[in-house]
Amino acid sequence: MNLMDPDKLRDDTPACRDLIHFNNAGASLQPAQVTRAQLDHLALEQKIGGYEAALQNAKASAQTYTALSRLLNCHENEIACVESATRAFQLLIAALPLAPGDRILVNQSEYSSNYLTLLHLAETRQIALVFVPNDESGSIDLQRLQQEAENGASLILLTHLPSQSGTIQPAAKVGQIARHYNIPYLLDACQSAGHLHLDVDELGCDMLVASGRKYLRAPRGTGFLYAQEALANRMIPAAIDLQSATWLSPERYEIAPGARRFEAWEHDVAGRIALGVAVNYALSVGMPAIESRICTLAASLRQQLGKIEGISVDDKGENLSGIVTFHAETQPATEIAALLRESGINTSVVRQQNTQLDHYYRRLPDINRASLHAYNTEDEITRFCAVLQQIMSVR
Ligand SMILES: Cc1ncc(COP(=O)(O)O)c(C=O)c1O
Repeated sequence: MNLMDPDKLRDDTPACRDLIHFNNAGASLQPAQVTRAQLDHLALEQKIGGYEAALQNAKASAQTYTALSRLLNCHENEIACVESATRAFQLLIAALPLAPGDRILVNQSEYSSNYLTLLHLAETRQIALVFVPNDESGSIDLQRLQQEAENGASLILLTHLPSQSGTIQPAAKVGQIARHYNIPYLLDACQSAGHLHLDVDELGCDMLVASGRKYLRAPRGTGFLYAQEALANRMIPAAIDLQSATWLSPERYEIAPGARRFEAWEHDVAGRIALGVAVNYALSVGMPAIESRICTLAASLRQQLGKIEGISVDDKGENLSGIVTFHAETQPATEIAALLRESGINTSVVRQQNTQLDHYYRRLPDINRASLHAYNTEDEITRFCAVLQQIMSVR
């Protein structure tokens, strides 16, 4: 598939026939090819045994690294497959040589679980978290970031696409600042992997984390990290096993080179194979084409939402993603999401409690989130807005 063909995407996605799925920032609908790869491997495990199935499908497992390295434009040994983006984040943070008093620059839109990990780090290891707010446009305040970088820091963190808003953070500009001051830079690409074209060189990030189930359309329980080779080789994993290290003699061991030092021996083989199939699927459609279609559909949704009385669109920024957020003054977000679900439309709710920094500064309540993928259509957007209009008019 070279040119974007939405009908083909929909044909490959059986669930499209039965529902409107605008919860791609939660977990996307899988292409049939992905589910088939996972089920085939599980069937093989049932038939010949788990270790034997892994051996037989070793090439398919290895393909996942090739696919991910193509997705990110990096080397295969800079990739580790893990079970989620949060686990990836925790593994990387725990392996950085941070000392009491070290400063970590963290933005207002950082993902909740990442922020909790950092709060825990600050409390248990006396690390200083330095808050970098967003500016009026909704993007990270680059001037503030630069000032704080000038004062010295051990790490810069950024969430590329916040899960609570449509903002596309200027990740490459942050990368330039990080490189200028020689500060390691960890990018949370959980919502941007499979959504935007990504290239770790262009982004200038040294580390990146993502999950499979979101815009990459892989199964739940899949995720991965990227760690630039030279940096990875200096990082000390918090825990090791037979995969992340080799036992050389009774008293000696060697940590695996590159990012594989962050992997555990036991893993969901079927999920890992299916992740590779999902990434190859996205690459065959073409990331620039996917990005462009998602952003175009989302702009159309924002425009139509803006015409519904009582609905406020909450996304800010010049560059907006496929994540569309909105709320109604008169109806709680959970009630709207439940009524949409009754009409066969999947969306989600962003809770104020889980976005304490961002919602506090933006003075927002719980809000609704409709997140679009390339397999969604203008017709679905029209039907979605008609149902929402109906919900609003009953009040
Ligand atoms: C921006 C962002 N980062 C990280 C995560 C965590 O991903 P996972 O659940 O795979 O750990 C999420 C999940 O919604 C997210 O939206």
